[in-house]
Amino acid sequence: MIRRLLVTGGAGFIGSNFVHHWCSNYPNDKVIVLDALTYAGNRINIQKWEEQENFRFVRGDICNASLVKELLQAEDINTIVHFAAESHVDRSILEPRTFAETNVMGTLTLLDAFRDRWISSSKSNHKSHNKSHNKPENYLFIHVSTDEVYGSLNPEDPAFTETTPLNPNSPYSASKAGSDHFVRAYHHTYNLPTIITNCSNNYGAYQFPEKLIPLMCINMLMGKPLPIYGDGKNVRDWLYVGDHCRALDVVINQGKAGETYNIGGNNEVENIQLVQTLCNLMDELADNLPVTPCADLITFVKDRPGHDRRYAINASKMKYELNWIPKVDIQSGLRLTAQWYLQNRDWWQPLLSVEYQRYYNQVYGDN
Ligand code: NAD
Ligand code: TYD
Repeated sequence: MIRRLLVTGGAGFIGSNFVHHWCSNYPNDKVIVLDALTYAGNRINIQKWEEQENFRFVRGDICNASLVKELLQAEDINTIVHFAAESHVDRSILEPRTFAETNVMGTLTLLDAFRDRWISSSKSNHKSHNKSHNKPENYLFIHVSTDEVYGSLNPEDPAFTETTPLNPNSPYSASKAGSDHFVRAYHHTYNLPTIITNCSNNYGAYQFPEKLIPLMCINMLMGKPLPIYGDGKNVRDWLYVGDHCRALDVVINQGKAGETYNIGGNNEVENIQLVQTLCNLMDELADNLPVTPCADLITFVKDRPGHDRRYAINASKMKYELNWIPKVDIQSGLRLTAQWYLQNRDWWQPLLSVEYQRYYNQVYGDN
């Protein structure tokens, strides 16, 4: 089956990795990227596909209802893979409203436009074949969400499953939970073919410098302090971004509409341990580092307000229903990632803009 995908947020970190995955594996499918190119979006990430006939980049906002509607119609989209979001917790603490607008209202705009498209397509099917009242079967809306919607775990708590109640703590996770609820409600109320995925922390190439792993790699390469929030014992479950893209692939091809799938790496690590591992890798991989060993740069700083202590994903449903497990272990994934930041200074250096420095000073300035 030929899919015609709208990939929202396809110029961001996970979205662009997904575009690489999909365009390499499904060269006959049509891929339309809709991305507003906020500070986190970078067209260079997907440049290599722009020459392809069945690829198109559209700069635009998912909150723009008429644009989204026209695009779905003009490109005859049957699958939306929805990544576009404001995605950084620290920024959500500084400006929560932007998160509500993009993550909640943007998702709602996409759902409405997709629903219209799905209904009109079923009407035209009905007219032309005059036999079925059924909705078209090849339509799918994949909502890419996060494990953060489930809230924070204590050390002995079992990992989040698909039935764990949503209990978000940050403005970011609250806005993602809001969008998850709308997606679920559109399936329940209108039977719209939607699937929600809740994934743990991703890492890999093309991640914007503000997130933990790129921030640490870049600061090591620049000889800057490595800021660890609080006591450094917060735990995250890390998944290599390529494994996330493979998981989304099986969900798109084999997932069941109306379902939620938890995606995780089975790699629970304390922040301080993770940064220590990255320091060792960078010491080994990089020549002429400004400060060695990199661990000398580790600096404990004021904790993030409301900092969730621990996330952990139980990905058994992905394993037993869709036969997916992660392939890249944390050591190899971190090595690949450290190497990528080491070799791609041309990619990240321009991102350390005046605007980024302003943000950086706001978050880390008092320390
Ligand atoms: P990112 O911040 O790197 O990229 C977000 C992309 O969305 C950018 O290209 C940006 O320009 C675009 N965008 C933002 N607002 C937009 C708008 N109004 N209209 C159109 N485009 C807009 O984010 P990411 O880390 O790649 O995350 C992608 C998705 O995956 C998000 O929905 C996030 O919640 C989810 N997620 C992320 C992680 C993670 O560890 N990064 C884990 C689980 C789930
Ligand atoms: P982050 O990459 O922002 O992802 P999230 O908060 O969505 O999980 O942060 C990962 C963990 O690293 C989180 O516990 C916060 C911590 N952290 C630091 O200790 N220092 C930093 O400078 C950053 C950005 C994060």
